Amino acid sequence: MVKLYLKGKTMSENTNPYTLSFGKQPPQMVSRFYEMQNIIDAFTNDPPSNQVYILTGVRGSGKTVTMTGIAKELQKDKDWIIVNLTAEYDLVESLAAELGEKKELKQFFKLEGLSVSLPGITIDVKNASPVTDAKVAVSKMLKLIKKKGKTVLVTLDEVSNNGSIKKFASVFQILLREELPVYLIMTGLYENIRSLQDEKSLTFLYRAPRVELPPLSLRAIADNYKKTFFLDQERANEMAELTKGYPYAFQLLGFLTWRANGDYYSILTEYRRYLEDYVYDKIFSEMSEKDRIVALGIAESVSGNVDEIKNILNLRQNEWNPYRKRLLDKGIILVPERGKVSFMLPFFAEFLQENQ
Ligand SMILES: Nc1ncnc2c1ncn2[C@@H]1O[C@H](COP(=O)(O)OP(=O)(O)OP(=O)(O)O)[C@@H](O)[C@H]1O
Ligand SMILES: [Mg+2]
Repeated sequence: MVKLYLKGKTMSENTNPYTLSFGKQPPQMVSRFYEMQNIIDAFTNDPPSNQVYILTGVRGSGKTVTMTGIAKELQKDKDWIIVNLTAEYDLVESLAAELGEKKELKQFFKLEGLSVSLPGITIDVKNASPVTDAKVAVSKMLKLIKKKGKTVLVTLDEVSNNGSIKKFASVFQILLREELPVYLIMTGLYENIRSLQDEKSLTFLYRAPRVELPPLSLRAIADNYKKTFFLDQERANEMAELTKGYPYAFQLLGFLTWRANGDYYSILTEYRRYLEDYVYDKIFSEMSEKDRIVALGIAESVSGNVDEIKNILNLRQNEWNPYRKRLLDKGIILVPERGKVSFMLPFFAEFLQENQ
């Protein structure tokens, strides 16, 4: 890992508008209007066309930021109650606690005579014996929330297939069956989501639509850089191309360029090193041996034509197909046009070639 010797600033010492931190809403956003609006529409249709969505994509593709953006948008409507859960704890208990903690709800639950005693949440009602089972508490709370005409969105970041998620999902499935006003957005790496969706008992998850986050619009990125760095269109386009629309790269290139007072040529080596140290090493370590070999074949092809790649790798079509699909699903490659593939991540081909 490179040391964090970065100290923002310069571009005449004003605060750097770009950020390298993951998971937080960045000050400089490139709109994901289409992906976000699709989900918002599905949730707010009457009746809703979907109550569960799963966002996947490679590390740094903006899953957390997109999910948070949707939650923020929905929260503008006072009838939506947002609950962000962290996978480390018991999710059903956490949901009960979070709902019971909301000031306006706690009072309401009490008035309606719902008494609860659970880790993290106590609602005392005189002469009522408290609910001590988290599942029952959540279901009762949601029935009251429904009566109040409100809706709950649960967000769940970075899920993987473990006991806690499975337990939560099976409870969630029952809540949906009871037609309670509850919605869910989850994010996760493709492999983790896939393994969770393959769980036979969780049918609603199996059917839940996955949204794979595509690259950001290069035009929008160019517009952003053009404004920030006072560039002409050609240079702004050139800078945008250097990111391939990969969200982390957009922040990183902006961040380093700001520090270099707009001279993006001077920081290209550093840019590549950051991409490698902070994301590509990790992505690479999570690829199987065979995926790496196939990815290297793609990196070595000049044209990006599938025929050339199969030749390099000595693969027949039916052997190539599953690898192509895996790399596509993980968000490592994309299909720019029929019969071609290319990497979603900037300088990933160079990274693979240098690391073989
Ligand atoms: N729409 C966007 N516009 C501009 N920058 C973005 C956008 N979405 C994400 N980013 C930036 O990209 C980086 C990664 O975003 P985020 O943390 O959401 O990715 P992630 O997919 O959740 O990654 P991980 O799998 O590691 O959790 C952050 O620096 C964030 O600021
Ligand atoms: Mg994330």
